[in-house]
Amino acid sequence: MSFSLNGPSELLFYVNGRKVTEKNVDPETMLLPYLRKKLRLTGTKYGCGGGGCGACTVMISRYDPGTKKIRHYSANACLLPICSLFGAAVTTVEGIGNTQRRIHPVQERIAKCHGTQCGFCSPGMVMSLYSLLRNIPKPSMDQLMEALGGNLCRCTGYRPIVDACKTFCKGNTRDLPILLWATNCCQSKENGICCLDRDESELLDSEQGNRTCEKLFQEEEFLPLDPTQEFIFPPELMIMAEKQPKRTRVFYGERITWISPVTLRELLEVKAKYPDAPIVMGNTTVGPDMKFKGILHPVIISPDRIAELNAVNYLDNGLTIGAGCSLAQLKDILTDVVLELPAEKTQTYQALLKHLRTLAGSQIRNVASLGGSIISRHSTSDLNPLLAVGNCTLNLASKDGKRQIPLNDQFLMKARSSDLKPEEILISVNIPYSRKWEFVSAFRQAPRQQNALAFVISGMRVLFEEDTNIVRDICIFYGGIGSTTVCAKKLCQKLTGRAWNEEMLGKACRSVLDEVLLPASAPGGMVEYKRSLLVSFLFKFYLEVLRNLRMMNPSLCPSVPAEYRSVLEDFHSKQYETVLRYQKVDTKQFPQDPIGRPIMHQSGIKHATGEAIYCDDMPVHDQELFLTFVTSSRAHAKIVSIDSSEALKLPGVIDVLTGKDLQGVNSFSEFPESEEILATDEVLGVGQLVCAVVADSDVKARQAARLVKIEYSDLEPLILTIEDAIQHNSFLETETKIDYGDVEEAFKTVDQILEGEIHIGGQEHFYMETHSMLVVPSGEDKEMDVYVSTQYPKQAQDIIASILKVPSNKIMCHVKRVGGAFGGKATKTGILAAITAFAANKTGRPVRCILERGEDILITGGRHPYLGKYKVGFMNDGRIMALDVVHYANGGFTLDHSQFVIQMGLLKLDNAYKIPNLRCRGLACKTNLPSNTALRGFGFPQAALVTESCITKVAAQSGLPPEKVRMINMYKGIHETHYKQEIDASNLMKCWNECIEISSYYARKARVEDFNKKNYWKKKGIALIPLKFPVGLCSLPAGQAAALVHIYLDGSVLVTHGGIEMGQGVHTKIIQVVSRELGMPMTNIHLRGTSTETVPNANVSGGSVVADLNGMAVQDACQILRKRLEPIISKNPHGTWMDWAQEAFNQSISLSATGYFRGYESDMDWEKGEGNPFAYFVYGTACSEVEVDCLTGDHKNIRTDIVMDVGHSINPALDIGQIEGAFIQGVGLYTLEELKYSPEGILYTRGPEHYKIPSFCDVPAEFNVSFLPASEVARTLYSSKGLGESALFLGSSVFFALHDAILAARQERGFSGVFTLNSPLTPEKIRMACEDKFTKMIPKDEPGSYIPWDIRI
Ligand SMILES: Cc1cc2nc3c(=O)[nH]c(=O)nc-3n(C[C@H](O)[C@H](O)[C@H](O)COP(=O)(O)OP(=O)(O)OC[C@H]3O[C@@H](n4cnc5c(N)ncnc54)[C@H](O)[C@@H]3O)c2cc1C
Ligand code: FES
Ligand code: FES
Repeated sequence: MSFSLNGPSELLFYVNGRKVTEKNVDPETMLLPYLRKKLRLTGTKYGCGGGGCGACTVMISRYDPGTKKIRHYSANACLLPICSLFGAAVTTVEGIGNTQRRIHPVQERIAKCHGTQCGFCSPGMVMSLYSLLRNIPKPSMDQLMEALGGNLCRCTGYRPIVDACKTFCKGNTRDLPILLWATNCCQSKENGICCLDRDESELLDSEQGNRTCEKLFQEEEFLPLDPTQEFIFPPELMIMAEKQPKRTRVFYGERITWISPVTLRELLEVKAKYPDAPIVMGNTTVGPDMKFKGILHPVIISPDRIAELNAVNYLDNGLTIGAGCSLAQLKDILTDVVLELPAEKTQTYQALLKHLRTLAGSQIRNVASLGGSIISRHSTSDLNPLLAVGNCTLNLASKDGKRQIPLNDQFLMKARSSDLKPEEILISVNIPYSRKWEFVSAFRQAPRQQNALAFVISGMRVLFEEDTNIVRDICIFYGGIGSTTVCAKKLCQKLTGRAWNEEMLGKACRSVLDEVLLPASAPGGMVEYKRSLLVSFLFKFYLEVLRNLRMMNPSLCPSVPAEYRSVLEDFHSKQYETVLRYQKVDTKQFPQDPIGRPIMHQSGIKHATGEAIYCDDMPVHDQELFLTFVTSSRAHAKIVSIDSSEALKLPGVIDVLTGKDLQGVNSFSEFPESEEILATDEVLGVGQLVCAVVADSDVKARQAARLVKIEYSDLEPLILTIEDAIQHNSFLETETKIDYGDVEEAFKTVDQILEGEIHIGGQEHFYMETHSMLVVPSGEDKEMDVYVSTQYPKQAQDIIASILKVPSNKIMCHVKRVGGAFGGKATKTGILAAITAFAANKTGRPVRCILERGEDILITGGRHPYLGKYKVGFMNDGRIMALDVVHYANGGFTLDHSQFVIQMGLLKLDNAYKIPNLRCRGLACKTNLPSNTALRGFGFPQAALVTESCITKVAAQSGLPPEKVRMINMYKGIHETHYKQEIDASNLMKCWNECIEISSYYARKARVEDFNKKNYWKKKGIALIPLKFPVGLCSLPAGQAAALVHIYLDGSVLVTHGGIEMGQGVHTKIIQVVSRELGMPMTNIHLRGTSTETVPNANVSGGSVVADLNGMAVQDACQILRKRLEPIISKNPHGTWMDWAQEAFNQSISLSATGYFRGYESDMDWEKGEGNPFAYFVYGTACSEVEVDCLTGDHKNIRTDIVMDVGHSINPALDIGQIEGAFIQGVGLYTLEELKYSPEGILYTRGPEHYKIPSFCDVPAEFNVSFLPASEVARTLYSSKGLGESALFLGSSVFFALHDAILAARQERGFSGVFTLNSPLTPEKIRMACEDKFTKMIPKDEPGSYIPWDIRI
């Protein structure tokens, strides 16, 4: 019977225990928008849309009638077509628990262990952990790390999330963080009431019962994990799977038809009918291709539960595994086989398992299929090189019959004769057992150890003549080189018949470089590094095989030299340890007073349940439209024409706005120079806004945007790099400088002078919530309600008012919370919101604009790349007498915050050092790149790295330990800075000394040296970095803040202030302040959000001072109210807040008050280069230890100890969170995150696939944070210090520890002398700095003889 398509099928699946049926389902719809828009389940978040961030994680459960088992697994909703969900049960974060019913233990623990900050990643984290626990209620640490590897968090630094997860682990108590200096808070329990909120009599009772807490959280109070409480799998789906006749389902969309055959026969028939249609299994290749590359498949074939595709057969020669098995299932199958069979038979399986542990995140591994992985033939495939060396065969079938083909180089190169025919399906893969005397190895090096495509991958196999070291057969494949996985065939031929010895190795290394060629301009860049990896992997293989051969027969070959052995061990942390020390609250402090206690984030539980509302979670308004942008594809060009006619023809498209529509209002001027909102005549950078497309849906708007045709004519000059800008004298402002002492005179008297430079790459904010806004015209008096994810609502209000030509009092900007910002939602958001408001005004309809991740990264800029050049004069004992330094920042095409960043860099560059003669100059370069802006630390992370790099060189030059040079030059006691502000740096030295003690620095340094003596290819490094971070905004008005506090007649309080909650916990601290000032329980106090309606003219939230400044304003308001109510309270001291409020009302006493803080007195005279710009200084020290693999550049963060001076902490849990989060962001900046630009100025790295922020694997295996004992800080709120930014720089301790390790390697290899390492210190830079005999072999390309793939900006 031949196959024919039926009418449209009905889609049936379950979501959170409820049946969902869809008659007219569009195959293009992914589960994520379906959940968010159709089912209004907004807990599942959009972070990237490409499977790379885990924000959209849900759990899928499926029943297999064959095995009668239910499989639960996590998956990325952004890549799951809903058509693929027939018969599945979907569980979202809302389904597992909520505050109305019962929160789930996973949600509770993530929140109460302080594992949420902005909360945007939290639902995804919860669901990954939940899915793991559904399968393994007591997982091991390894299982935990594997399950969470696909989830990114930009705020927390992961440590608290790990702690929360560990509470579910086997034998968890041993691993829990040790908290010293106990506090007295229980952490809020399920009903939201904390011990601090109970009334006094209750507290006395509990204290008599010795009820005190000793940790940041109380594990005893956690809800137990009870698997019997979970949703049961819907019986209807089970019955359906068992009993319903299997029928091919077809779903027809506007552009795509989806066919789900349910038997192999039907599948083959459909494939014969639609040979070009892809077979969609996990959709992890097809999905991203359709979404990001615009590839359209009119027909999609998606087999459903076809037994043959999922069968596993154990044959005599090996395993045959169904092509439909997911990579996670493959891993389970291979794990079982490896446990059962002798090791000699499972060499290929063990090698595959090694890669399956790190390949992508668990969500991808759970859905991506073995067949999909093979057929996709990505050059970066982890599995294909191994399957190829393992002599696998592919079992194919078509309507015309079955056949087998080898998975070899020809197949991988897609040679027609060796490939599938269009009508063929891959049914299964045979992976043979290995033989005695056969060894298989797997190698990969990626930018990050987890969830990152590798730069180079290799599978290598060798078979020896029995009981000899003579090679009988050898096979080597490489991936990541060129467009396909390649075989080093000639090399293998040459090695066959040879003895396994050093001579063979030397020949192999030379041959591989001759055979596996990588052109200088190869896509992906890093050419020399990749070449070096070809050889490094070969060398590692040589050593591995040597070890194995010797185990078989010690007489066959020499043993691996002792100092080489460690390089064969993988970096792998099995344990995560942490000690947190924070300040003890004074025993005299009133128990109900929450100041100084580790109170959970006010929204913690809501973050974890998905109930916290972000901008795009707001319901759709009637008649709502969507706006998207068309951006420049050229870096410097004249706009010849804009043709939007095709876009406008698309049904649903309402308008395409250009600069002409904005005539007269097409600019804004927050900074001295005004900025064009939509480019009209000329574009100055790729990503510049040119048009805005407005349509009735996001899908339509994006489709239409692709149809807008812009014709350009390129202009000269094209200025991209700092060096280009210097050459063209292209700067955004004139030079800024500070002169202190007499540098020239000092240079004459010093013992030594050294000159150098360092380049520091930029950084993307990568807040998890992309730019989001919704503008709703009220329809009356030109009023607009603007819901926007911004740090600076006032600026959005100003630009909108100006573009609409209305007074500011008509524009109400509201910010409930922001899903991370880090400086990136300060200036750019206002422009985006203004265009959205313009569209809303023009159409008279609500307009929403949510940037996709790629757009967000492209449009909004980030941290300024820096070039620091210095000349330093010092004495032989390490004393620095003079420093002359110049900073160049790559500012992009508009001024934005560049000048301020330069100024802050100059003011803060001294870091912890008293430099008696200092001349510093700074220039912001104007280039044809997206404009760079504020990012946590604001110039300090770059400026201080320049100084520390210089000091490291001084140490190397003078032959002194770096920590000694640092200590000699540090501020001690009372001093003045180079801008003549007085500073008492006593706490700096305390942090330094305490860190040395806590970290056992000197003992560990000795151990590191000992390790380095005994290990040639692995080196350890340790570094101690001090921190002095000035806090303040350099201006009095910039620090003013206001608040509004209402007391209602029932005694409850509503607070608003000008600060934005972006994860740092400002609202939580404010509630603590109100609680102390009014003397009322925190549960009485509510904070709804920030709005220009309630607190006008609020400054931007940033610069570490949001809680400081707004807290003072709130304190002021509360004190006013308390004073007013004092007579009433003292008359009725046992009354309740309800009584007092009612009495005040009866006496006509106002129950509302505004509070105000003028800002910190500050001044800076840039003409003279002196002033008192800062309110206070934060001090700290970090000690980090790392281990480096010199052959690959890989490294492991072994341990970090941080000691911080925080004054009196208002909330140690939040403050530790800020320190850890900033530190890990700093680790990202200095060692991992790399923005890559083409020579034409096009940003390549536009999503988590290419731009790697730190993940769980980057957290030091031991991570300790300590506060200095409380100290008084004049003028600040309760003597607290703002900690948002400072600790980011401490991430450089990892950079300098890497430097130390590289130095050890270089010295051992005879490379003496000073060398420069630029930031970020990626595996590429580490490897190339660890020069050795292998790097010497690498062919080098003459600079200028080729066009590189990327350029350093
Ligand atoms: C975020 C992310 C991270 C990743 N990281 C890694 C990584 O670290 N290492 C790595 O190796 N890979 C990585 N990948 C790639 C991933 O492994 C592949 O996308 C995946 O294996 C493809 O499987 P699939 O089932 O999803 O294929 P699909 O997208 O469903 O299909 C892919 C292709 O295979 C064809 N196909 C599938 N099954 C058959 C069959 N039975 N017969 C004939 N043709 C078939 C389809 O026609 C289609 O052309 C990553 C992918 C993503 C999205
Ligand atoms: S949104 Fe799905 S993984 Fe990022
Ligand atoms: S809390 Fe994880 S991204 Fe903000």
